[in-house]
Amino acid sequence: MSRFGRAFLQYRNTFMTMAFLAALLAIPQALLAWGREGHEIIVILAEHYMRPATAARMRELLAPESPEEASVWADEYRHDHRETGPWHYIDIPLADSTIDLARECPNGDCVIAKTEQFLKVLKEPNANKDTKAQALRFVIHFVGDLHQPLHVADNGDEGGNTRHVVFDGHPENLHWEWDTGLLQHISRNPAALAAELENRITPRDQAEWQNGSIEDWVMEGHRLAQAVAYGDLSNESPAPITRAYEQQAGPVIELQLHKAGVRLAYLLDANLMLGSAGQNPESKAQTAATRGNPDARVWVNTNSGAYHCPGTRWFGKTHEGQYMTQKEAQNKGYHPSANKPCM
Ligand code: ADE
Ligand code: ZN
Ligand code: ZN
Repeated sequence: MSRFGRAFLQYRNTFMTMAFLAALLAIPQALLAWGREGHEIIVILAEHYMRPATAARMRELLAPESPEEASVWADEYRHDHRETGPWHYIDIPLADSTIDLARECPNGDCVIAKTEQFLKVLKEPNANKDTKAQALRFVIHFVGDLHQPLHVADNGDEGGNTRHVVFDGHPENLHWEWDTGLLQHISRNPAALAAELENRITPRDQAEWQNGSIEDWVMEGHRLAQAVAYGDLSNESPAPITRAYEQQAGPVIELQLHKAGVRLAYLLDANLMLGSAGQNPESKAQTAATRGNPDARVWVNTNSGAYHCPGTRWFGKTHEGQYMTQKEAQNKGYHPSANKPCM
């Protein structure tokens, strides 16, 4: 081959490598969920809030992958399994105040239905380990996604994906800012931000956040999309992300990440251990002796897996629930709200 030919090929290879790298960089981050950092914060928080036996079971199922790695697996899976894209969000029109599942969750392809579906798999005593591990990765990821306000609201712009904004002189889209950009301005260290958030929580917040159903949590995020994500945004295009906007959005993002962590912990406490009762010696040991008064009549929030004592705020009051004795509740794998047994 002529020298010119070789030089040309070399040039072409370099060019193709560059083009390939450029294409990789151009994979629209905006189409991911909370960015990697958001999902990592949520699972770090969740692991701290869940019972030790649940955390051990979670790690055993995910091994050798860490919970942080596992938390973003669903976004990687989405690249090669395009049909799973809609599992990460639900496009509830911005002006609505209720969910129309028939319209917004056709064939169960939305984040609400998929979270519920995979939670059921965790409870299933006969599901094999790989099936459970995959369901667990989806649950960890989707409980995060459904707390991102723009994953549960749509203003005719694919949850902000097609809404142009400018932040610090950089053109971006609104969705990406909520997944990633605004959070990167708060912190670039997931473990440090998780620790800071944990210091702020009161046991009362923790007990309150576990109440309600997945749909209630989704509508809470939807109202934040109305009030803040879109509500505080200027009508210009591109819309500037101002310092004032950032000051409204920042605390909302922190709060949603924190709630997601607390709720993920409660859901896994309730569902993951139920599915392994009798298989896991640790869970047996835990139910061997009742903590608190075994005969106390408690109210179990069957959605979160936490139970409430007589005279406390949520006794008999949560969306879904039932009464039983404390002994029964503990034998079924439920746990006392804020970790305080009834005396
Ligand atoms: N694609 C369409 N709507 C979306 C949303 N709300 N969030 C993420 N991706 C979407
Ligand atoms: Zn997203
Ligand atoms: Zn996602």
